[in-house]
Amino acid sequence: MNSKTSCLGIFIFLFGILIQAQKFEKLALTPPMGWNSWNKFGCEVNEELIRSIADAMVESGMKDAGYEYIVIDDCWQGGRDSLGFIYPDSAKFPNGMKALADYVHSKGLKLGIYSDAGTKTCAGYPGSRGYEYQDALQYALWGIDYLKYDWCNTENINPIGAYSTMRDALYKAGRPILFSMCEWGTSKPWEWAKDIAHMWRTTGDIFICWDCKHDHGGWYSWGVMKILDMQEGLRQYAGPGHWNDPDMLEVGNGLSVNEDRAHFSMWAMLAAPLIAGNDLRNMSKETVEILTNQEVIAVNQDSLGIQGFKYNSIDSLETWFKPLSNGEWAVCFLNRRDQPAVIKFDWKIENVVDEIFGFETAFNETIYNIRNLWDKKNIGNTKRVFKATVPSHDVIMLRLTPLK
Ligand code: GLA
Repeated sequence: MNSKTSCLGIFIFLFGILIQAQKFEKLALTPPMGWNSWNKFGCEVNEELIRSIADAMVESGMKDAGYEYIVIDDCWQGGRDSLGFIYPDSAKFPNGMKALADYVHSKGLKLGIYSDAGTKTCAGYPGSRGYEYQDALQYALWGIDYLKYDWCNTENINPIGAYSTMRDALYKAGRPILFSMCEWGTSKPWEWAKDIAHMWRTTGDIFICWDCKHDHGGWYSWGVMKILDMQEGLRQYAGPGHWNDPDMLEVGNGLSVNEDRAHFSMWAMLAAPLIAGNDLRNMSKETVEILTNQEVIAVNQDSLGIQGFKYNSIDSLETWFKPLSNGEWAVCFLNRRDQPAVIKFDWKIENVVDEIFGFETAFNETIYNIRNLWDKKNIGNTKRVFKATVPSHDVIMLRLTPLK
């Protein structure tokens, strides 16, 4: 072989690596929206549940509000066949995954599935370690659109390597599959996963409480406020196509209505994926109103894709800002106290600057119209001091639009 041909060979080899080393682009230009079985149903997943959840997503108005993915979390697996292909538990999924994907697609929705980078999933089912390409191929053949990829039983595995391998396997299988990393923030995925996944968990699991730490004997799960606090310092890493994921929603699972509203509003402010985790077949009017508030969802889905930031905190009354496209802003007053809190916010003297993304409100020069996103009312403009009372564990969420 002469030096020209060997150079060409090396070039083709490197080019091959280059084109293979990609994730599917444009799958998550705004934060993904959907539903996942884990928070409410744990291991109790089956075909009937998933079909009826798909029906309920349409009938409840959630599909129209933008929810798209139905994700089956852990415990769907039956085993591997003699060739190593994974198959679902036939008692839980008697018609198999392809038929289920076809059904979900027939409703205009997409189907997600779960696996794990280790030898076993967190609940002890077969993991994808050593079977990445085979599993990715199988998911593509079934018509899967989303993969949540967990991190249990991964002793001595390098996370960048493991998640890149599955990213490459999915890409090679050829079906666009949104890749959701669930590594709990342990090795700071925000620093390295932008070109690997579309979203990455930033924390351990969420727990249905306002501000508690739940001890499982060796590991903890976290209340809504604890998870919120753990997002500090991460906003610079998120943007269209790659999102910080503070875990799935607990709205409708037992928090008070005020707390559910605050939880949903803050996930919207964080530009977090909105993955509902409740029983969509059996929702109170309040739960539906929260999960389908189009104006709050519009803040989350804004095309700039900028994660909001805490502007200040005064005795547990926090003020958050999120830059939106066209010079608009979302503002959220979050009352973490156990009593109501009175806000007096004099726009003109506040200097709100987003140093990371280069935006400022310039309240002294620009007057904004104010819309209350939960009351769905226009309530004046920023010339006047904003005065209101925020109930305990609740929010007031506003959208500011510059007056021309
Ligand atoms: C981990 C994940 C959860 C869920 C369970 C399933 O705890 O963080 O979101 O997927 O595993 O076993």
